[in-house]
Parts: sequence; C-alpha cells; structure tokens
Amino acid sequence: MVGRILDWTIDRFGLRPIYDRLLNRRVPRAHWYSGDGSTMLALLGIQVLTGAVLALTYSPAVDSAYASVVYITEEQPLGWFVRGLHYWSGGAVVVMVTFHLFRQILFGGYKSPREGTWIVGVILFFCILFMGYSGYLLRWDERSIHGIRVMLHMLMRVPLVGESLVLIAQGGRDLGPQTLTRLYALHVLLIPLFMFSLVGFHLYLVVIRGTITRAERERPVESAEEQKRLYAEETASSAGGEYFFPVTMIKTGMMATVVLAATLLLTLILGPARLYPEANLIDSSVPAEEWWFWWLSGLIAFLPPSIAPWFIVTLPVATFVLMMALPFLDRSPFRGVRKRPFWAAFVVVTVIVILLLTDYRRRSAFMGWPDLEPPPVPVGMTLPPDAERGRHLFATYGCNSCHPVAGHGRQVAVDFAMLQGQLSHDKIRQYILQPPAGVAMPGYEGRLEESELVALTEFCHLVQTFPRRP
Ligand code: HEC
Repeated sequence: MVGRILDWTIDRFGLRPIYDRLLNRRVPRAHWYSGDGSTMLALLGIQVLTGAVLALTYSPAVDSAYASVVYITEEQPLGWFVRGLHYWSGGAVVVMVTFHLFRQILFGGYKSPREGTWIVGVILFFCILFMGYSGYLLRWDERSIHGIRVMLHMLMRVPLVGESLVLIAQGGRDLGPQTLTRLYALHVLLIPLFMFSLVGFHLYLVVIRGTITRAERERPVESAEEQKRLYAEETASSAGGEYFFPVTMIKTGMMATVVLAATLLLTLILGPARLYPEANLIDSSVPAEEWWFWWLSGLIAFLPPSIAPWFIVTLPVATFVLMMALPFLDRSPFRGVRKRPFWAAFVVVTVIVILLLTDYRRRSAFMGWPDLEPPPVPVGMTLPPDAERGRHLFATYGCNSCHPVAGHGRQVAVDFAMLQGQLSHDKIRQYILQPPAGVAMPGYEGRLEESELVALTEFCHLVQTFPRRP
C-alpha cells in the first residue's frame, strides 16, 4: 500500500528525473567541511522567510522606516525574534561564504573543469556582501547614513562615470528619500532575484561538475579529461564515493544543524542588532559598521589618510578581478594542500590577519578610526588622573584620527593646542555631545559614560596649555 502510494506520487508529480539525476547519484565521499554549501542554502532559506515577514511591516520611506523597525522590535509579536534571526543568519551567511571560499582556494576547487562553478560563486560572494551591507542601511539609524555616505564616496571615485553613479544611487542630487527606496528595491527584489538564479546555476554546475575528490588531491591532474575520468572512477568506488541520497545529505546536514542552532542561540541570547538614534540627513552621523566589516575598518585605520579613501574603492574592484582571474592565473596541475604550500600559507595568513584586524576594531569604541597609541604628553608635564584617562580615551574613541594634539597625529580637524582663544569646559562638553550641524565630527551623545565625558573634556581643556611645536 505505502509502496503504491509512493509510486503514484513519484509518477504523477514527475519526481523520477529529480530522484535519478539529483539524489540517486554517486558523489565523492563527504568530509565534515563539505556541509558548508548546504548550510548556506539553509541560511538563505531563513533569510527569504524572515525577510518576507519583515517586509510585511517594514516601511521603506524616510519618515517611517526607523519607526517601523522600532515597532517590529518592540511591539510586533515575535518581531524581535524575526529581526534577530534575519540579522544573525545574515551574519552567518557572510561567515560561511568566506569559509567556503577559502576552502576552495585551499584545495584548488576552481581548477578545470570547475572554472564556471567558481566564477558564478565569485559573483554570488559579492552579492552576499552587498546584501549584508544594504541590509543595515534599511534600518535608517545614524549608522545607516554613514554607511550610505561611504558607499557614495566609493562610487564617486570610480573614473569617468563616478558622478553619474552617485546620482543614480542617490536617486537625485542629494542623499534623500529616493536613496532609501532604491536600497530597498535592491535589497528585497533585484539582488535576491539575481542571487537565486545564480544559486540555482551554481548548484547545477556542482551537480554536473562535481566536487573535488581525494584522487584529484593526491596526484597532478593535467587536463579536464583526466579529471573527469578520475572523478568517474573515484565516485564509483566504494572507498572514494557514496550515494548523495541519503549518505551525503545526512553528513552535510550535520554542519547545517550546528550552524542553525548557533544562529538560533545568538538570536535568543543577544536579540536583534542594536538600533542607534534615528538617522537624520542634516547632522553628522556615526561611523560604525556591522561586525562582518570590522576587519576592513581595522585595515583602513592602518593606512595613511592620503591612501585610505582610494584604497576602499580599489580593494573590492581588485579583489573581484583577481578572483575572477584566479583559475587562469594558477595553472599548476596540483590540487589539495600538500603540493600547494603557497596557497596554504596565503589562506592561513589571510584568516589570521582578518581575525587580528577584527579584534583591533572590536577593542575600540569606534567613532573615528581607532588608535592604540594615545597622544604624547609634552616632556616635563604630568597630567592629573582625569586628564590622563581622557588622553587614553582620546585614542580609544578615535578622536586622534581627526584631531592632532600639539602637532602630533593626523591633521584632519583643529588642534586644541593651536587655538587662539580658550575653549571652556562647557563648550568642549557640548561639542563632544553634539557638534553643530555641518561639522564633520560624529556626535557622541549617548555613547560615552559621564565619567568618560568628564575625562575627555578635561584632557581637551588641558591640551590648550600644551606648548606648541615650533
Ligand atoms: C571624523 C573626525 C572627527 C573625530 C573622530 C572627532 N572630531 Fe572633534 N572635530 C572635528 C571637526 C571637523 C571639528 C570642527 C573644527 C574643525 O573644523 O577643525 C571638530 C571640533 C571639535 C571641538 C571644538 C573645537 C573648536 O574649536 O570649537 C572639540 C572640543 C572636539 N572636536 C573634540 C573631539 C573629541 C573629544 C573627539 C573624540 C571623542 C572628537 N572631537 C572626535 C572632527 C572630528
């Protein structure tokens, strides 16, 4: 009876070809890390579902966007949960896609005949980064405005068409309502549609070109034909191959389960991303980005100010071009780690650098670029404890990424030691909390503890008595 119902279902719903070609095929034996692809697929599924639920309430208009996010978080039943899941699962996609990518570089997964799979994957990688980026702009809090400004600034520097790109992205001469509408359309409609056709294509290629086998990793493979022959032999053998359904599916499902559980746990414990005060287009905004871009901020903080603005434009373009070209640049017949020490070192060093930069950025209460080195005290001077604490906070809060102190540090904004008149404690305090409109300094209202504010004010006040450097 059960058998007949099953047969009927398979026949009437046309499932036979799906079973034959997709499920009942031989694939290389899966390892624990082979599950990263299925994990991403599951996470993307969560993104679509939670995103659709958020879209039921979210309002993509400048005067109500922020309020609708607040409503979702605070009043809508389970709204905080859906927003939290969307946020953490989005972060997990960024982490997983990076893992997936480094794994392919480590094993040479981009080598023939899988160049197509790799190229589609690279485009997908950039789509995911753009989704992670456009997502937090939709919250329309202070951070969003800064994020948008960074994007516009990047576009502006594209040769020849920069200005037109900015006009298109903004939807007009100024950053305004149109900009949000465009970001929304991109985030919920255009990029996801594009991405999901690409994901389909990527999976199709994975099915027909397969994943890397043990045999391929152990001997040089000279041609695509040789790879295909090896692949067929390996997957047919019982030592090197297995049935995709159910063996591989169960194995890869484990990683997906672990990551989904972690995502759920983070959502329950930490909840959705914190909302900063509502964006407004007149006052200065807060430069702070999502944690998956921290390494980039950390990196930029190390660059001299004359290079940094160009670097953030060149880096993504250069990375994209190099990644697309990788299968054609690296033509050695070896795959796997053992015979490719350069790539192994490359991946290890890159991952370590990314982690260190992320940590560097994490440790600073970031408003300007963070700095570990506080400004120097003039020789022969000792600061009272409060001012001394302020001196360190001056670096932690990135004040010295704009303000030099008695000639030391970056010359972006005024040096308090060089002022003609005297700033009073009150004036300094007010300025730190909310700089006047139009001043390119972030307001620190609500982001400093009272004692920190006092210490910073004390330090800035005292700097005015520092000897000027000749
Ligand atoms: C992104 C750059 C930037 C950062 C970061 C920054 N500032 Fe400023 N700050 C400015 C600019 C620009 C001005 C306006 C004066 C000028 O044009 O130099 C200013 C002005 C000030 C003034 C008033 C000076 C005057 O002459 O009236 C004070 C006080 C001040 N900043 C303190 C701080 C402190 C304290 C911090 C860190 C908590 C900080 N700033 C971080 C850019 C910055």
